[in-house]
Amino acid sequence: ACSPAQTASTDWQTIGTVADLDKSGQLLNENSPIGPVLVVGTSKAQENLVAVNPTCTHKGCTVAWKAQAKKFVCPCHGAEYGIDGTVQKEPATKPLKTYAAKIEGNSVVVKQ
Ligand code: FES
Repeated sequence: ACSPAQTASTDWQTIGTVADLDKSGQLLNENSPIGPVLVVGTSKAQENLVAVNPTCTHKGCTVAWKAQAKKFVCPCHGAEYGIDGTVQKEPATKPLKTYAAKIEGNSVVVKQ
């Protein structure tokens, strides 16, 4: 089968360093090549890494990861999203965009 040519938007993009991710269990890059990205997890459990676009689908505030509750919470009007980006509490109605994430050497990389 034919596979589409690789373009910049489908390549793995570096979001930050493994050291910064492991420090707090999350890594926010608001100016990555694919827009704002929030990665959650640590390099010790690479298979559990989660990456989302943290822009709230309600009115565009940046959501925060609440590790204990295991959800993303918007500071503006209280919308909540599950770790997979699905809406758990209104006023948001659309899910957060999610990305594939992995560790590559000392870098945390994600792909659209
Ligand atoms: Fe996030 Fe309104 S902008 S709940």
